[in-house]
Amino acid sequence: MNSTTFRTENRPVVPVQRYRQPADIFEALFQSIQGGENHPRPTLELTPDSPFLPFLEIGYALRTCLEKPSRHAYLLHRLRPHVSVLVGTLPASILPMGMLPKLAPLPGFRPLEAISDAELHQWLIQESGLIYGEMQRFELENYFDAIKPYLPTGGIMVDLGSGLGKVVMTAALTLPFSRCVGVELMTYRHRLAQDRLVRLLTLTRQGLEALPEPLRVDTPLTLPSGVVANGRHLLELGARIAFIENDMFKVDVRGASLVFVYSTCFGPLMNALSNKLARELPEGALVSTTTYPIKHPSFRLLETHAPGTLSWTSMMIYQRIGPPTTQTVLEDRYLHQPDTDAWEARAREELGG
Ligand SMILES: C[S@@+](CC[C@H](N)C(=O)[O-])C[C@H]1O[C@@H](n2cnc3c(N)ncnc32)[C@H](O)[C@@H]1O
Repeated sequence: MNSTTFRTENRPVVPVQRYRQPADIFEALFQSIQGGENHPRPTLELTPDSPFLPFLEIGYALRTCLEKPSRHAYLLHRLRPHVSVLVGTLPASILPMGMLPKLAPLPGFRPLEAISDAELHQWLIQESGLIYGEMQRFELENYFDAIKPYLPTGGIMVDLGSGLGKVVMTAALTLPFSRCVGVELMTYRHRLAQDRLVRLLTLTRQGLEALPEPLRVDTPLTLPSGVVANGRHLLELGARIAFIENDMFKVDVRGASLVFVYSTCFGPLMNALSNKLARELPEGALVSTTTYPIKHPSFRLLETHAPGTLSWTSMMIYQRIGPPTTQTVLEDRYLHQPDTDAWEARAREELGG
């Protein structure tokens, strides 16, 4: 497919009234997994056993400075060396609508003065990765059209940072992957993905029961991608989808044939991510990223799509080449170097408002 044939918007949504054919089931299933970008964001829980406790501690230290005008100069002084890992002007989670709980911090939480630059740097990297967004339906259709020619039949698809599960479920519906797996760090997003999966499978069962002709495991079935599979694809959908609640750096992707990463908020993580994928993926495996490239020598760039073609942001498709390697890439190659003075001027303005 070339860029002139990419879709540029979603088709109008026509609710499915009757299940006359499998295509009606697919349509209802796709409709059921849209809109996750608008989900209400809960604040992180402040409990003594929260896995986010170190994150909360530093968030509080920063927010305490944000709330006191007399501390603004110090806040800027501490953030300034880390502008390359900041997404936006000020960290979103400490702003009034952010995920940091409004409750008083726990006793023992340190003030910003007691938090090192290294800790702050790591915190900002984690913070940017927790921002949420989803690709639109037509963008994912473009994406799977682009990736299809490179895929072997079957194979395992993995979404690192899978959020509410839209890409994983879209992959499982669109192409004959043997398994589609999402890995998500945040508990509430993982749970929402599981809820969506339950809804998806309930709808699938209802659709299959309502078909005038029963779908059998060996009935030829044209998938939304145009690939012809068989009835097993829908009848055993649940067995092909899994969501794991974990840090993507702790989950081995050794068996994957396609790793999808919506990496637009992962700029500071790209080097670590590339090293992990080079260590674990077999030769031939595909990786796609958004916004940020992979520059590790173990990946060959197959396609690059400029913003506004396949998706609103750039998308890159890579293939793993060569034997397994522990070779790493240098930290700074991926970090953008923004204009620090311009950042500070914007930050002062935001703080002033
Ligand atoms: C931009 S969203 C993309 C969601 C999904 N992949 C999609 O495209 O619809 C990125 C997700 O990555 C998750 N995330 C960030 N850091 C992570 C980590 N270390 N391990 C697993 N998930 C992570 C965030 O919580 C967020 O839900």
